[in-house]
Amino acid sequence: KKIAVFASGSGSNFQAILDTQLDAEISLLVCDKPQAFCVERAKKADVPTFVFQAKDYADKEAYELEILHSLKKYGVELIVLAGYMRLIGPTLLQAFEGKIVNIHPSLLPAFPGKDAIGQALEAKVKVSGVTVHFVDAGMDTGPIIAQKAIELSENETKVSLQTKIHRIEHELYPKVIQGLLQ
Ligand code: GRF
Repeated sequence: KKIAVFASGSGSNFQAILDTQLDAEISLLVCDKPQAFCVERAKKADVPTFVFQAKDYADKEAYELEILHSLKKYGVELIVLAGYMRLIGPTLLQAFEGKIVNIHPSLLPAFPGKDAIGQALEAKVKVSGVTVHFVDAGMDTGPIIAQKAIELSENETKVSLQTKIHRIEHELYPKVIQGLLQ
């Protein structure tokens, strides 16, 4: 099976997937931020990239049609979102129905959207976590595939919680992806 990873940032989850032996090939990185570190990681791993900037296109449909073209070119069958900071539009959702997954740094449906870690700290919850879910048209709303809880300490900070979350994500996401491939 061929997988595409979509990312906008550092790509540590992308790296964790690259570093895991999967029954699949990571065939493409799609990135909307030319300066993002995930692009370097792809180059180092010899993974082809489709890098774009939304501002160069009339609308979401226009850039998603180009993404779709790349996905088809590489024969991609599963899309893995790993810190991709854009909502997936109808163009990709229809072409990859039930074949797009995302990882989110909270126990959904709590704290969807941006800065889930900040939201959890603000809410003073004792437990947060990580969710892997199928992607639908909403913001972090699709069917949940897997979750892992994380206890917050008394003096938890954004940095410390972020570190805990990444550690869990890097273990959980490749495992869930491997499960989906079987
Ligand atoms: C992860 O925490 C993920 O849950 C969220 O974005 C972050 C991406 O981190 N969707 P990285 O770029 O994989 O390091």
